[in-house]
Amino acid sequence: MAQTSTRIDIPDVESVLAVANTDVDEVVHAVHDNVDAIFTWDYDKGARPKLDKLYEKAKRSQWNATTDLAWDTPVDQEAVVVANAAQSGGLHEGMDLAGTPFASWTEREWIRLGIESQNWTLSQFMHGEQAALICTAKIVESVPWIDAKYYAATQVMDEARHMEVFARYLDEKLSGHYPVNAHLRALLDDIITDSRWDMTYLGMQIMVEGLALAAFGMIRQLTTEPLLKELLRYVMSDEARHVAFGVLSLQEHYQQLSASEIRERQEFAYEAAIRMRNRLLQQEVWERMEVPVEEAVALVAESPDRVLFQQMLFSRIVPNCKKLGLLDAGDGWLRDRFTELGVIQFEDQADTGEEYESLAAVGADRPA
Ligand SMILES: [Fe+2]
Ligand SMILES: [Fe+2]
Repeated sequence: MAQTSTRIDIPDVESVLAVANTDVDEVVHAVHDNVDAIFTWDYDKGARPKLDKLYEKAKRSQWNATTDLAWDTPVDQEAVVVANAAQSGGLHEGMDLAGTPFASWTEREWIRLGIESQNWTLSQFMHGEQAALICTAKIVESVPWIDAKYYAATQVMDEARHMEVFARYLDEKLSGHYPVNAHLRALLDDIITDSRWDMTYLGMQIMVEGLALAAFGMIRQLTTEPLLKELLRYVMSDEARHVAFGVLSLQEHYQQLSASEIRERQEFAYEAAIRMRNRLLQQEVWERMEVPVEEAVALVAESPDRVLFQQMLFSRIVPNCKKLGLLDAGDGWLRDRFTELGVIQFEDQADTGEEYESLAAVGADRPA
């Protein structure tokens, strides 16, 4: 088992770099959406009480990105990078850089890397939020249950707000956008293209939003910048509800699927996991910094910090897959895959359905 785990822990750098975004000046990107638009004439609101409760909660938890965040907070990005690095033990602590392109780097280059990494990460969050907006609009269109249509409509508004806050933070507080990473775009395209309505939920609400929730939580803990901390708290309070929406909806739907249909869901989840676990390596940052991309990606892929960070990203996904029955269905196929990926240890972490209640207290971080 340990051997398999090592093999998968170190991504195949060539295959990561083989996929690159060459349309960096593209302004619109069309993806064919294969679902039928489903009307339901069954307007029995509350027929699914848990979804109805979530919908009522979502209506009470709306916030205004323009007025609820302290946009006048000054942000000195360089100072933030230095302060964050001091807090987390340095930008390149504990790595042997002899013989690598980084051996001659001074503090200036490390700070620039911190700045570009932040620009890249928040750009990918912004693009992911737009994908969530589109996926949730697709759920409004394709889900057959009235309670899910009601709830998903609130999530469409939430995602618009998230896209708005990340775009504004990038424009006003950071120093440059990055186009969508090609691996992320391929994953998002696959989720949107799939003709089975429940795959939108699995791809977006369970996998992408589960990963986002973990990433937001880690960055929120790490950052010393108060506006970003507050912004992430607000976004997380919504995201936790979104993941709960996915779990509640799929739990019901999966009960009526055949073993082979469940296996397709397991494979879909695994494929998404592989892409998120091993492919999102900031390759565009190295290009912009004019560092040899192959060497840099290989080095980062093996850095202990990154391996730990990438594993932590699964802290929400694995327990939710367990709750959906996906881990152990079909002789535990997905359990075996998650074990190989080194993320199975998260299976009993508090799942998001229990957790969203505690996160939903919007404004808890704000000064009185
Ligand atoms: Fe979002
Ligand atoms: Fe979301």
